[in-house]
Formats: sequence, structure tokens, C-alpha cells
Amino acid sequence: MKVLGIDIGGTGIKAAIVNTKNGELITERHRISTPKPATPEAVASVVKQMVAHFEWNGIVGCCFPTIVVEGECKHKGNLSKEWVGIKIDTLFKTTCDGLPFYVSNDADLAGLAEVSLGAGKEVKGKIFVITIGTGIGSGLFYNGRLIPNVELGRIYHTNGEIIEKHVADSARKRDELSLEQWAKRFDLFLQHIKTLHTPEMYILGGGISKKFKKFKNFLTVDIPVKPAKFRNNAGIIGAALYAVKKNK
Ligand code: BGC
Repeated sequence: MKVLGIDIGGTGIKAAIVNTKNGELITERHRISTPKPATPEAVASVVKQMVAHFEWNGIVGCCFPTIVVEGECKHKGNLSKEWVGIKIDTLFKTTCDGLPFYVSNDADLAGLAEVSLGAGKEVKGKIFVITIGTGIGSGLFYNGRLIPNVELGRIYHTNGEIIEKHVADSARKRDELSLEQWAKRFDLFLQHIKTLHTPEMYILGGGISKKFKKFKNFLTVDIPVKPAKFRNNAGIIGAALYAVKKNK
């Protein structure tokens, strides 16, 4: 089946039409910068532009960069406070002339793609899919089943800030870290989460996963760490898979 997948991020909004059988993108990926401020109206208007760009008239799956429960935004994340309490699926549906939208957390959906068709396929036990971008996203899967809205990026660093401010890709850029310096920070985070949860495996997604080969040797955590098979497209693909699942 062909489905439009949209990945709303803190910095960019990306979309493509996906073949949900194998996760292939059957169009070029289209990117529009996330509006600033990222209010509900401003983001919904970009979503409408995406739908128009692809001349899309079917179901839409959508990744959202914060906590989402039954289509409703529960936290402002790195967007704007007006989002809290908004039914995101209803807002996008109304903005896009009634197209059905299925919306969930971005890392949960990137994870869905990886566990269904990618690096975590048929892996038993506990897996964390961690997306590294503007923020840190985390998807927890147990025997292939999603346990939604686990927010590892929001645990506290010893400096009192949330850990994503220290280990996200945006922190690497802000602090002008080399890949090695950043990877050492990130490694400590992976070690801490390993002590807390004893996962079988980590899968790393987000923009920086494209550079996995260059930083993997700086990671010392003693469980398998794999790059997301779908790299930074995992969210778009997972969103499309989610829409198919929910539309049944
Ligand atoms: C949010 C997560 C989200 C992640 C990646 C974090 O700031 O708390 O829900 O998955 O950013 O977008």
C-alpha cells in the first residue's frame, strides 16, 4: 500500500510517499523548515503544503516530536506551549480538507519501522530505538511490541538540565564538539540507560545515524548498538506503517 508519511521535527518537517510493504520511499523526500514559533496553526499550514506538494488524497501517518496519547499532544517538547491539549490528528484533518491523519511520537514510530522492517526485525527482548536530532527521542520495544511514550531524553543530567540538552545532535553543534567528544558524552548516556533497563540492543536513528561508522568506535557500552536501517527516514516510514495499522 502507498501512504504519505510526514515526520515533524523540531528543525525540519520531512515527508515522502512510502511503500508500506517494504518501507521503500517511492518519491523523493520533501523538506520544509519547521516554522518559528512552531505554533499549531503554523505547523498545520506546513502539513497542508506537504499534502499539496504530493497531491495526496489518502490516509496520512505523522510523527510528532513530543508525547502523544491517542492523537493528543501532552507536552510542548521543543515546539510551543500552545500544543499542549491539542488533538493533533483532528487539527491536521481539519486543515487538510478531511484527510484522515494518524499521529504518534516520532521515536516510537521510527522504532516501529526498525522493529517491523529494519535493524530490530525479529529481535527478541527489550530494544531501545534512540533518535538523535534536535532532541533525544526514545522508543521502547519488548518482543517487537511498542511500549509508548518512554522519554529517556527528559531524565536529568547532574547539571540540573534534561539530558537531551547535553547529548542531542543540537548540543554537539551548539558546543562545537568533534564527533569523538560528542560520542563520549552519548556513550555515558547509553551506559546509564543500560544500567537502568538492561536492554538487549540499541538502535540509533536521527540525522547523525548517517555518521554511525565514524563514531561507533567511541562507544564502549557492552551491548549491541546498530544504526537504524532506514537512517533518518525511519520516522517517515514508521508513520506510514502506523497509519495502515490504525486505519484497519
Ligand atoms: C521529546 C520526545 C521526542 C524527541 C525527538 C524530545 O524533546 O521529549 O518526545 O521524541 O524530542 O523529537
